[in-house]
Amino acid sequence: MSQVKLNLIAAACENMGIGAKGTLPWRLKKEMAYFTTMTTKVSSPSKVNAVIMGRITWDCIPLKYRPLKDRLNIVMTRHVEKVKETVPEGVVVVPGLDEAIKYIDGREDVESTWVIGGSHIYQAAMAHPNCGKIYLTEIQKSFNCDTFFPNIDKQQFHLVDEEEVPEERQVEGDISYYFRVYKRL
Ligand SMILES: NC(=O)c1ccc[n+]([C@@H]2O[C@H](COP(=O)([O-])OP(=O)(O)OC[C@H]3O[C@@H](n4cnc5c(N)ncnc54)[C@H](OP(=O)(O)O)[C@@H]3O)[C@@H](O)[C@H]2O)c1
Repeated sequence: MSQVKLNLIAAACENMGIGAKGTLPWRLKKEMAYFTTMTTKVSSPSKVNAVIMGRITWDCIPLKYRPLKDRLNIVMTRHVEKVKETVPEGVVVVPGLDEAIKYIDGREDVESTWVIGGSHIYQAAMAHPNCGKIYLTEIQKSFNCDTFFPNIDKQQFHLVDEEEVPEERQVEGDISYYFRVYKRL
């Protein structure tokens, strides 16, 4: 089996919403900074992390921020040839999660792999045998959403403490949230 471990990272509100009309329903600068740090930081300076995302999530990233910098960007689509023509050089386009894992396996410079959404990609990653942890920011407020984080099977995934992840409640404006980590047993 591949050694690639999939870490999911998402922010969800009380009703498990993650997106609305192709964007994030909230603006949380510190939460975004957490996402950037977690998905970018490496212990070996000669390595990078990979981020795997669905084609719609790719489309949702503002042009000036994509590809997500200092990370290997991998986009999943069922229309590989078409999407390949639209992405900048260096962005990898694959037809599925197994192909993404195979690609990463073939590279020696990838340290960690982060699945960054959206909904179906999270679902596929959670069901995948290589899924390790879910880094979920739990926002203590409800927003109108049209895209949702899939149900976490609590028989399989248990809440754990991670040294690198702050435990305490985070507050930005009138929104509070917690950084949680679930680990597959
Ligand atoms: N809060 C968060 O943490 C977070 C994170 C990420 C995204 N979001 C939000 O979520 C929304 C976007 O997510 P989404 O769920 O609508 O879309 P998505 O998962 O990003 O992308 C869906 C697309 O991915 C491709 N795809 C899906 N399953 C596939 C599979 N098994 N194999 C190959 N390709 C596959 C298809 O692309 P083709 O149509 O090209 O074939 C599909 O249309 C936005 O609102 C975004 O802002 C929020």
